[in-house]
Amino acid sequence: ASDPLVLFMPSGKRGNFPLGTPVIEAARQLGVYVESVCGGRATCGRCQVVVQEGHFAKHKITSSNSHISPKGPKEERYERVRGLLADGRRLSCSATVQGDLVIDIPQETVINAQVIRKAAVNRIIERNPAVQLCYVEVDQPDMHKPLGDLDRLKVVLEADWGWKDLLVSQHLLPDVQKILRKGEWGVTAAIHRDLETSRPTLIALWPGLKNEAYGIACDIGSTTIAMHLVSLLSGRVVASSGTSNPQIRFGEDLMSRVSYVMMNPDGREAMTKAVRQAVNELTAQVCAESGVDRHDILDTVFVANPIMHHLFLGIDPTELGQAPFALAVSGEVHTWASEINLDVNVGARVYILPCIAGHVGADAAGATLSEGPYRQDKMMLLVDVGTNAEIVLGNRQRVVAASSPTGPAFEGAEISSGQRAAPGAIERVRIDPATLEPKIRVIGSDKWSDEEGFAESVAATGVTGICGSAIIEVVAEMFLSGIISEDGVVDGALVERSARILSNGRTFSYLLHDGSPRITVTQNDIRAIQLAKSALYAGVKLLMEKQGVDHVDTIRFAGAFGSFIDPKYAMVLGLIPDCDLAEVKAVGNAAGTGALMALLNRDHRREIESTVKQIEKIETALEPKFQEHFVYAMALPNKVDSFPKLAE
Ligand code: FES
Repeated sequence: ASDPLVLFMPSGKRGNFPLGTPVIEAARQLGVYVESVCGGRATCGRCQVVVQEGHFAKHKITSSNSHISPKGPKEERYERVRGLLADGRRLSCSATVQGDLVIDIPQETVINAQVIRKAAVNRIIERNPAVQLCYVEVDQPDMHKPLGDLDRLKVVLEADWGWKDLLVSQHLLPDVQKILRKGEWGVTAAIHRDLETSRPTLIALWPGLKNEAYGIACDIGSTTIAMHLVSLLSGRVVASSGTSNPQIRFGEDLMSRVSYVMMNPDGREAMTKAVRQAVNELTAQVCAESGVDRHDILDTVFVANPIMHHLFLGIDPTELGQAPFALAVSGEVHTWASEINLDVNVGARVYILPCIAGHVGADAAGATLSEGPYRQDKMMLLVDVGTNAEIVLGNRQRVVAASSPTGPAFEGAEISSGQRAAPGAIERVRIDPATLEPKIRVIGSDKWSDEEGFAESVAATGVTGICGSAIIEVVAEMFLSGIISEDGVVDGALVERSARILSNGRTFSYLLHDGSPRITVTQNDIRAIQLAKSALYAGVKLLMEKQGVDHVDTIRFAGAFGSFIDPKYAMVLGLIPDCDLAEVKAVGNAAGTGALMALLNRDHRREIESTVKQIEKIETALEPKFQEHFVYAMALPNKVDSFPKLAE
């Protein structure tokens, strides 16, 4: 009879193994990642699997445990580990194949918690981190074999764990002897190896068994910095948080920050310092929330738009402010956390995803990794709307990307009553087409303005302005109720019909909220939205032409903006091309999710590196057709394109 079949889930990898093969060994041979700190000594409890079908051999005390004294610390650890094994879990290092098996590798569900809102995306990321913990027992010094303490550590790391040609992080040298003695020759080493071809590096060392290591995945946006703190061993997100980017004080949008650098001799330095400090403060915050020691953070992954990317790394972004928008470095960056002054373990590593182009950064690469247009047959449009819209369109065959200068209108800037999404901001709008009377909803209140108790519910904040999502809605509702024409002009004749239509001399505006302040939508506001939406649409249209398609199958809105807007209104205004509304989804901070994937599994790093190399970059400024599309897209929803799905 043939050897038993062992099937690992969720990867579906399978193979035949002789009776008695340790399950962890079968997993290794098939390339299924099973965590292990103790190296199969059955003391770390990290190698747990769940048996779905079939039989494991009973736990046995492994040879390295059989000689330990019953009351020693190791025995206690072992008992503790066995006590932890609940719900049909087994230690894969001490369970052996006794027949056909179906084995579940438990994966913690990773939650992409929206920093601003609750909408969460659940997904499972298989683990294969760049940093591994390895417990070893080092030979004691022997006068007859004058090999150094560190050298004997290297010998056992190779013998027990297979780490050949190990490099050692310089900062450890002064401490090695102390740590070995403190651990009574039992120590846990953190080994970093990202590329399969590169030499592994010993980056941290602890006395005894160290059973936890963390990483951070961080998205440095122009306005917000978002971070996840993650257990590298279980894959669990232990805390997520966000903070505003302190660089805002140097300039609201990216280009004004580039100008600041150009005009101030120490501008670059000041901004680099500010962003690194904010990252450190956020790190301290997520650590405090979860009770994690920042020195246990061993790996860090960052995504950012090109200008933030450069400033974070201490690179002058001036070249990005003008054609040909040259990046100092477009490929992935590997460095040490200490090189960029991060307050984490001194041996911790940094990985930064590659940038796609001068205006399409590592954040767009992160979103691309997260949403994976290149992994599917459907034609996917991925849009991240900020001051620049980063646009990616493609499928398994081909992916193209561009950025489009939407300006800050979608974020509420350049709008007379615009503001950031914050309590007091109008976030939802409906206009009755018969009476032209509006009703609104405000962030921080759960009532519409025509419901009882609305006034009390907003008493604390007042109604302060309109946030980006509501700007889209109010303009779309004004269009649907006939207040504005297809050209976006407020119909002055309506002054007769409604006190909401106000005359400002040559143009008219719409009174959305009669309070203090008075919130109106002016003709200029509508123009600003038209300009922003036509820039976005023209960029999308250009990419659709490059792909030779006249419709897209699915649309993903990444970023905070995307999670606020209602897809229907985005389509009413012609922000996005026609698409089945059920296929238009907000995916939250997809860039941050991409960073998380790269943190937990270095295969994802290789995946996005090779994808980015293949993405075709389109520079909208150089495309004559862009202007043409832009002009057609000024009309609501569009002068030439139709939206059949919207009519359905
Ligand atoms: Fe540590 Fe199995 S590898 S308990």
